[in-house]
Amino acid sequence: MASTSPASPDAVDLLILGAGSGGYAAALRAAELGVSVVMVERDKVGGTCLHYGCIPTKALLHAAEIADQTRESENFGIKATLDGIDMAGVNSYKDKVVSRLYKGLQGLVKSRQIEVVAGDGRLTSPTTVQVGDRTIEGRHVLLATGSQPMSLPGLEIDHDRVIDSSDALRLDRVPASVAILGAGAIGCEFASVWRSFGAEVTIIEALPHVVPLEEESSSKLVERAFRKRGIGMELGARFESVKSTDSGVTVSLEGGKTIEAELFLVAVGRGPVSAGIGYDEVGVAMERGFVTVDAEMRTNIPTISALGDLIPTLQLAHVGFGEGIFAAERLAGLNPPPLDYDGVPRVTYSEPEVASVGITSAQARDRGYDIVDNTYDLAGNGKSQILQTAGAVKVIAAKDGPVLGVHMVGSRVGELIAEAQLITNWEALPAEVAQLIHPHPTMSEAVGEAHLALAGKPLHSHS
Ligand code: NAI
Repeated sequence: MASTSPASPDAVDLLILGAGSGGYAAALRAAELGVSVVMVERDKVGGTCLHYGCIPTKALLHAAEIADQTRESENFGIKATLDGIDMAGVNSYKDKVVSRLYKGLQGLVKSRQIEVVAGDGRLTSPTTVQVGDRTIEGRHVLLATGSQPMSLPGLEIDHDRVIDSSDALRLDRVPASVAILGAGAIGCEFASVWRSFGAEVTIIEALPHVVPLEEESSSKLVERAFRKRGIGMELGARFESVKSTDSGVTVSLEGGKTIEAELFLVAVGRGPVSAGIGYDEVGVAMERGFVTVDAEMRTNIPTISALGDLIPTLQLAHVGFGEGIFAAERLAGLNPPPLDYDGVPRVTYSEPEVASVGITSAQARDRGYDIVDNTYDLAGNGKSQILQTAGAVKVIAAKDGPVLGVHMVGSRVGELIAEAQLITNWEALPAEVAQLIHPHPTMSEAVGEAHLALAGKPLHSHS
């Protein structure tokens, strides 16, 4: 292990503060490489993603899909009625999924002989973390304390009527109505769940579209689907204030419009957990609370690295995994290739799902590309018709060059993005992808069809 500072013989090779996706991935990889690891965690190994994020929300979304399918069963000739949503049952299913994965993860950590120290850790020097009365020393320290829900200045989250995503996951009832501030991944996913469970839902978004960082045509398809599902959307709307009423809240927007709802979910982003845990005192450089790192996740202090939601890269669990593996390999003296953040797939698991990889048309134009694109409508895809899902796969390529971005909307398209990821990461030409025979009937054919069309030989489409 490449050491950069004198350390006592008791020091572990790698001391990790925070055992979420980024921290535990680094621990697992480092241990595989023969590095001694101690991980400090104040809550549970697995962090936000496993306990309060990705996994429990996707379980809710799956239960929501079952509710939708039951409600729509007649479309398939099946007689069934949706008698209600038993939130205790839904939560028990969700909690079982989390707890099974949690047990598995704990087993993995144990089997690699990673010591987990439970408690509030505080960075006390470039090589030490204090937990209670124990001082732990590491030749290298990895900061992986993650993120927490943010709010707006003056908007207080009371965890009762004005809630964040963690509160939303703990709800033991289906609210009659919800207003949601922010149409990013969290806003759209909860809007989707609650609507499927029967709530009246209104999303308020400052930008002109939902999932505003996605390709604009994807956002528009989601808006069309949400409208059809009866989800209200206030787009390009600025939040002004929220007041409690006898039955819930009144949310006021700039311009005078008001929305009455039982609950108000604030989903305007997540901010880094970096205050009050010694980073400032030890002199770790930060900007807006995010720890500043170079492309190899080094901070300004040679013994300290940082990763995951704590640094200003994409706040996604799989990015944390990738950064964890990278950091562990670098600290173990290997020379891993740099991470390519454009190549990271992004999925919003609402109904319909939104999935993308590579760059958008706007980004391609900004980077000076002359582009061509093709949008394959799922209306022409057999499996999508069987599943009765609407949506599209849009492929953007450099003119006479490789595929730059793939953007999808539709049920379960998150499962299709891995192929698109190979296409963009390996800089395949549309004609090369068009050569690949896709299995019929699958939704993955839509990816093949868009490339066939881009290669000038459309099969089940006109262009
Ligand atoms: P976000 O940053 O994705 O979206 C927040 C939205 O709130 C933005 O669209 C923003 O324009 C809007 N907003 C901000 N201030 C506003 C205001 N005053 N009035 C109206 N709208 C306003 O944040 P989100 O959804 O809270 O998620 C946090 C992080 O967690 C994100 O990085 C997200 O990607 C990640 N995440 C990823 C998931 C996934 O990959 N499926 C699921 C859940 C979260």
